[in-house]
Amino acid sequence: MPLQRHEALRSLSRDHHVALQLARALQSGASPHLRAHLPADPKALIAYVERVYTTELAPHFGAEDAVLATAVRGKDAELDRTLQEIEAEHASMTALVASLGALGAAEIDPALDRLGRTLEAHVRREERECYTRVQEVLDDAALDRLGDALGRHFVSLCDTGAPSS
Ligand SMILES: [Fe+2]
Ligand SMILES: [Fe+2]
Repeated sequence: MPLQRHEALRSLSRDHHVALQLARALQSGASPHLRAHLPADPKALIAYVERVYTTELAPHFGAEDAVLATAVRGKDAELDRTLQEIEAEHASMTALVASLGALGAAEIDPALDRLGRTLEAHVRREERECYTRVQEVLDDAALDRLGDALGRHFVSLCDTGAPSS
């Protein structure tokens, strides 16, 4: 039976539902009902993706890179490697989103497809591999501290637009 998601990681796991919905809708061949809530016009679609990136994905990536990675660093060599790879994937998706506005018409769909596939694989890996391992590596007290740190991180984002140091 899969390990239940600890309270400390539940808000990040909830973000993954939003990310997965976007990821699946962006992939070429997505079913019409997945595409239905996305703008049909390519420029409007890019603006939508940029907005979701700014409001949902970037804060989530930042919390994983800054708070989650800090909480587990040095406790498990394989998890350290996984978190480094995850951070590199965040950077590559960030660069991909930043490049969308400059793409020619024929390049937009393949780029969005690539973003969707990368984001889906990324989120699934985090859920199956990374978050589960975090729960194995951290004891209950450390998980509670992680939950508190994530809470403070997101509150500081709401207050100032930037995480507190
Ligand atoms: Fe991530
Ligand atoms: Fe994530």
